[in-house]
Amino acid sequence: MKPVRKAVFPVAGLGTRFLPATKAFAKELLPVVDRPLIQYAVDEAREAGIEQMIFVTGRGKVGLEDYFDIGFELETTMRARGKSLDLLEPTRMPPGSIASVRQQEPLGLGHAVWCAREIVGDEPFAVLLPDDLMVGKPGCVAQMVEAYNKVGGNIVCVQEVPRERTASYGVITPGSADGRLTEVKGLVEKPRPEDAPSNLAVVGRYILQPEIMRILEDKETGAGGEIQLTDAMAKLIGQQPFHGLTFEGERHDCGDKVGFVIANIALALKRDDVAPAVRAFIADL
Ligand code: G1P
Repeated sequence: MKPVRKAVFPVAGLGTRFLPATKAFAKELLPVVDRPLIQYAVDEAREAGIEQMIFVTGRGKVGLEDYFDIGFELETTMRARGKSLDLLEPTRMPPGSIASVRQQEPLGLGHAVWCAREIVGDEPFAVLLPDDLMVGKPGCVAQMVEAYNKVGGNIVCVQEVPRERTASYGVITPGSADGRLTEVKGLVEKPRPEDAPSNLAVVGRYILQPEIMRILEDKETGAGGEIQLTDAMAKLIGQQPFHGLTFEGERHDCGDKVGFVIANIALALKRDDVAPAVRAFIADL
């Protein structure tokens, strides 16, 4: 079984739900406390042993590449003023460990993943949607890699959601369960609550086999007229092992304003430097 060494980060989205904040920069650079969303996702991947980060970007998203580069002017000025560069440490990446490709048109998540096919090559890979901020110890991808090393094949992260929310997610038809691992018998993208096969929703973390790229090649469209990753994954069921892993930890949906504000509060309350003042403010409120 080949190890999971690469991760794809689909980051081409326009972030229209956060306008005007995201008019001039990538939504993945929005900070939760003091770190951008992309930093949390890249840290999670590194913790899981991922060596190669593949960004699927779009126009107006160069800030994401700059973020992980050396900030020459900034650093030179800070050094000249005798300031510590320690806070920049998380942005330092081994040379060559970030690659990026462009998704020229917004044709769907499946299409975004397919855009990374040449860099992914013939090996299993992870997919992380940075909008989903996953907080856990170990991190979500690390939990998934551990499960992958036991069962192989394809693994999606799943979470129970209220029935009335199924139309926002990919939803699985669950088979037999073994602890936090559930066999996936079927997958459907954004079903109406009355049509949903369960309330186990796919959240933004995947470990996939490279064969998915050949299915995505067909560019079949699904829900919303987009090329859906969920539809391509559904075609692998029966051909390769396919499981859902229930993540032990918290998920914050930072693609949504309310989720984003909650994430800031939740993470601030875990941070020694800001928690006391934030807690005092909330208590007062
Ligand atoms: C995407 C996927 C969906 C998944 C969700 C998780 O949807 O298509 O299957 O459940 O991410 O966040 P989106 O949120 O891009 O509409």
